[in-house]
Amino acid sequence: MSDFSLNLTHRPRRNRKSATVRDLVRETELSVKDLVYPVFIMEGKGKEEPISSMPGMTRKTVDKLLLEVQELADLGVKAIAPFPAIADAKKNPKATEAMNPDGLVPECVRRVKEKFPDVVVMTDLALDPFNSDGHDGIVSPSGEILNDETVDILCKMGIAHARAGVDFVCPSDMMDGRIGAIRKALDSEGFENTSIMAYSAKYASAFYGPFRDALQSAPKAGDKKTYQMDPANRREALYEVSLDVDEGADIVMVKPACYYLDVVREVADNFDIPVATYQVSGEYAMLCAAAGNGWLDRDRVVLESLTAIRRAGAKMIWTYFAKEAAKLLRAADR
Ligand code: PBG
Repeated sequence: MSDFSLNLTHRPRRNRKSATVRDLVRETELSVKDLVYPVFIMEGKGKEEPISSMPGMTRKTVDKLLLEVQELADLGVKAIAPFPAIADAKKNPKATEAMNPDGLVPECVRRVKEKFPDVVVMTDLALDPFNSDGHDGIVSPSGEILNDETVDILCKMGIAHARAGVDFVCPSDMMDGRIGAIRKALDSEGFENTSIMAYSAKYASAFYGPFRDALQSAPKAGDKKTYQMDPANRREALYEVSLDVDEGADIVMVKPACYYLDVVREVADNFDIPVATYQVSGEYAMLCAAAGNGWLDRDRVVLESLTAIRRAGAKMIWTYFAKEAAKLLRAADR
């Protein structure tokens, strides 16, 4: 014993003394099986366009997406969430294109499920990509976002996606009562096995900026604060989640992820259904920008951010880093 010995009973560092010991005591595992990859799609054939605020991400036509889905499946990423970029000519104040059974999203679902029946496809239910006003709901002449009228459209949209064979519909609109209404609508058409992943605690966040660039779907007027949640609120998230659970959600989501991990933890502690979270476009863009400047080690922050989300209690993580993380996890396993 050296002269400096503190005679400690507890030396927590013993459990960190080697990589193998650290592996043995690790409390949280990040797996490729936890990841959902959001992808941006557009109409046409053979086209792919970069998204400037999301380096490495592109908008692509469905034929190109099929190639990427093969690549993802080979890496073990078996869940995708397509988001459509809709031409301005197809947008209107009633978002009618959202209900088109032959629209871009149902077409994408059909083609992916036909070629990759085991890949899980999760589609967004919200009107913003289809609505000339750029809001998730129908806007009244006075500028109000109309709740019940919007839910009626979401139900029809959900049925169109279910008919195309989608695994999960994911209402991201934050209208009241939509989970129950969509569940009832799906069941009445015989789609009892179509699941609902509810964006239950979705905050009115500035971190969605790059996503709105990607789809050119930003609101034309006003903001989304009358339907998305105030970032200052925590208890309200539990209230929203409890309503969605009662209305029949299969999975609930907290969004964004990394600035809202306290909310993720509380939802995970208070409810017994799986919790998802979405590492959103702004979180992706921030890490890309800092890493691109050489200020952060990209590989390490990608895995650290995703592990932190798992530690907070989320099971499923939607992330634009899914493909990259799958490669990193595979390399780390060797
Ligand atoms: C559409 C929707 C949005 C996101 C997912 N679904 C944008 C918004 O609500 O304004 C954001 C995802 C991201 O930023 O990565 N309702």
